[in-house]
Amino acid sequence: MINKLSKRINNLPVSATLAMAAKARELKAAGKDIISLSLGEPDFNTPDFIKDAAIEAINEGYNSYTPVDGYVELKEAICTKFKRDNNLHYTPNQIVVSTGAKQSIANIAQVLLNPGDEVLLPAPYWVSYSAIAILCEATFVEIPSTIDTDFKITPEQLEAAITPKTKMVFFNSPNNPSGTIYTEEEYRALAKVLEKHPQIYILSDEIYEHINYGIKSFSFAAIENMFERTITVNGLAKAFAMTGWRIGYACAPAALTEAMMKVHQYSMMCASIIAQDAAVEALKLKARGLAFVGDGINDAPALASADVGIAVGTGTDVAIESADVVLMSGDLLGVVNAIEMSRRTLRNIKQNLFWAFGYNVALIPVAAGILYPSFGIVLSPILAAGAMALSSVFVLGNALRLRFAAAAGAGA
Ligand SMILES: Cc1ncc(COP(=O)(O)O)c(C=O)c1O
Repeated sequence: MINKLSKRINNLPVSATLAMAAKARELKAAGKDIISLSLGEPDFNTPDFIKDAAIEAINEGYNSYTPVDGYVELKEAICTKFKRDNNLHYTPNQIVVSTGAKQSIANIAQVLLNPGDEVLLPAPYWVSYSAIAILCEATFVEIPSTIDTDFKITPEQLEAAITPKTKMVFFNSPNNPSGTIYTEEEYRALAKVLEKHPQIYILSDEIYEHINYGIKSFSFAAIENMFERTITVNGLAKAFAMTGWRIGYACAPAALTEAMMKVHQYSMMCASIIAQDAAVEALKLKARGLAFVGDGINDAPALASADVGIAVGTGTDVAIESADVVLMSGDLLGVVNAIEMSRRTLRNIKQNLFWAFGYNVALIPVAAGILYPSFGIVLSPILAAGAMALSSVFVLGNALRLRFAAAAGAGA
């Protein structure tokens, strides 16, 4: 059959994360006990007062479309949040509420990118960034980083990656997958480079702002002369355990938000009125002095400690049938010979190893150098050393058994 699909779609890989999540769901439905760490989802329930607000909205007959860019009450709550948490002074006309942060990113890419434009992606990066660029027929250019720089790019690297075709750079701090957080000084040093290239827009994805185990993250738009060129993206998915509610938002100078609304009105119309109404309540959370959902992650119960099989996916070829925990291969995220592991998984591994060795963590052969104390982790050294070839990395009595069910990394 002749391939009638558009070039854009033919060029697009299937999202590896979503493929792995779908596979995990399928296996769960078939009765297998699967822990899926593929999608970035807090394992908490949405707080009750947010759920109650949604129920109330339904009962009160909130069933209509909202304005394309979102309820004014929600946009005002977002402005208040930015003033309170980020020292950013947006006005409601500089905000577009979307069905998740992902849609905000896709919208702004549609608004700014022409075929052939270049998008700079500091690696490792979230898989959707490159796909979103491809959908706009733009070219994505990875800027590599390593554990030596705490998975951050340097101003020199940024300068070297810029060409006359560069239109956008994506920053994501706290970062998925590395967990790294740029300091204000580091962001200011990158801004100095961008000052010399006024044609470049900055997308600052701050969705993990509150799932943060290090320094408080800094908003790129808070750098005085970057405000006009920065699109700040955030949402409720991660901080409030509301991934399925699909509320995100993009904030930018009005010329950009007006253009974003054009894309939005012809594709999505608006985010769900019920979720928007509940989001207003959620955003008041800090004002009420309650802890963020993310703050509770450190207290989450440990993963089951016995016989946990771990599968690493390469692309959509996900060998999780024989495993219970699903991890991402680093090469999907711009870091070869690596796997991605959530902070929580890491903590549980550490706990189990700690226990098994009678509190002598120094005995753990892989501990030094590979445990990266942040939300996400990239375990490059073991894989680089070819340890993925081993079918059993640790067997510690009844403690955690990491069994790599599939080889992963470059060339695998
Ligand atoms: C870095 C990053 N940005 C954005 C998103 C999407 O967030 P949302 O669920 O609000 O679309 C994710 C989801 O995993 C993410 O990891």
